[in-house]
Amino acid sequence: MADRVLLTTDDLEQAVRVNAALEQAGFDTAMVSSLDDVRQAVRGKQPPPDAIILTGGLHESTARRLLTAAHEHGVPTLGLVEATDEAAETIAHELGLTDWLVKPTDPAEVTATVRRLIERRRLQRRTGILGESAPIQEVLVKIEQMAPVTSTVLIEGESGTGKELVARAIHDLSPRRGKAFIAVNCAALPETLLESELFGHEKGSFTGAAERRLGRFELANGGTIFLDEVGEMPPATQVKLLRVLEDKSFFRVGGTQPINVDVRVTAASNKSLKEAVALGTFRDDLFYRLNVLSVYLPPLRERRSDIPLLVRTFIADFAKQHDRNFRGITPDALQLIVDADWPGNVRQLKNLIESMVVLAPEGEIRASDIPRDIRERTRPLPVRIARAPSREIAGQELEFIFRTLDGGRGRAIPASLDPLDATGEPDQPVIYKAGMSMSDVERAAIDAALRETHGNRRKAAETLGIGERTLYRKLKEYAID
Ligand SMILES: Nc1ncnc2c1ncn2[C@@H]1O[C@H](COP(=O)(O)OP(=O)(O)OP(=O)(O)O)[C@@H](O)[C@H]1O
Ligand SMILES: [Mg+2]
Repeated sequence: MADRVLLTTDDLEQAVRVNAALEQAGFDTAMVSSLDDVRQAVRGKQPPPDAIILTGGLHESTARRLLTAAHEHGVPTLGLVEATDEAAETIAHELGLTDWLVKPTDPAEVTATVRRLIERRRLQRRTGILGESAPIQEVLVKIEQMAPVTSTVLIEGESGTGKELVARAIHDLSPRRGKAFIAVNCAALPETLLESELFGHEKGSFTGAAERRLGRFELANGGTIFLDEVGEMPPATQVKLLRVLEDKSFFRVGGTQPINVDVRVTAASNKSLKEAVALGTFRDDLFYRLNVLSVYLPPLRERRSDIPLLVRTFIADFAKQHDRNFRGITPDALQLIVDADWPGNVRQLKNLIESMVVLAPEGEIRASDIPRDIRERTRPLPVRIARAPSREIAGQELEFIFRTLDGGRGRAIPASLDPLDATGEPDQPVIYKAGMSMSDVERAAIDAALRETHGNRRKAAETLGIGERTLYRKLKEYAID
């Protein structure tokens, strides 16, 4: 069946031209004049369209409502933005468009972009990686690029952010898909057992080694090995792993014959491996060998716009699995979930939804069904944003609470913003001076974070502990470029 694309007619000329090109390319298209009608199509009983193109009217509130609905139902959106909108990227991020093109657009380019968005959606269905937020879309693009090659991939992110899901997706999309995918948790076993687990052992090589045993590397031959919690690997094992990566061969424990394998290595860590290198617990040569390709999965609280889609999907999946006739979730309950902190990320959210689907008495999740600790999510602690350099305010340490970023959701500014942190040298401090307003301080913090990250907005947002979109909004608000 042809993929269905809805186009809005706010810019009729564009819509007509793009529509013709899409039809020619074999899409099933429909032009819709009212954004509310498009929203109904997304939320209605019928399966939603495969993609939506907004040809104009992006700044209207109906467009925002439509984009929220599209987000919640995992429908990709392509916005055609005016050339006069000076920062197309900012606008696209702010509105939550999946992609955008600047007008006047070439209908062939629109068609190619729509096709790519629909393919990515298919990829999401196949891999189970849900999310329309910019970071998840970036992860999907990376997975597509990384799957066909054999280079090692390092996947970093907090616990429960989907690292194993990504590793499996890379394997499933790779030419190795028919072969084994073998996961080993490097933190779960003591050194000797881990080595024998990874590389196998010969009969009699140690007490208890009654038989020859093949290691995970041999079992994964032709396929992919996934080294989970690789940062916890003991130093001696790190040396052996480095050798496998370099020579593609190793010895079984107690063995004398080198064993050659063809294994793609993926690894994950929920702590920063770079920091482990700095602390001396992880070899730097191994780090560089593993980190040839890298994927970072941001915590769920930095991509809250994905939460409604995750909640909706998990409810439907668990209702089916537990054979429960379940209506869904009330808007206020959903809002509480969107606002919660989720230290355990998607795993925690998924487990909670499962328990609520099983336990909610009314066949619907209501605010009162949500456990208290989730509802009363912890507020951030007071944060020191700058230790005043002694010359400036003699010996005084300034401390205050920094809550306004992220629209009152305020996050702690991590210590790395502290100018005296890490390097021990004062460097672009954020200083509170008498008379500064909260927005002055916020602006100064954003400036400092951007300097620290050399203008990398994603990293700056991460440093500040706010979403990238919030940062874009603030940049616009304060006219920082
Ligand atoms: N983007 C996502 N879409 C749908 N499900 C997700 C997503 N991310 C994670 N999950 C689900 O959340 C759970 C945890 O994911 P996963 O095991 O991949 O996390 P992890 O990063 O490996 O965690 P840990 O560091 O604790 O091992 C799994 O059930 C996974 O399917
Ligand atoms: Mg894991």
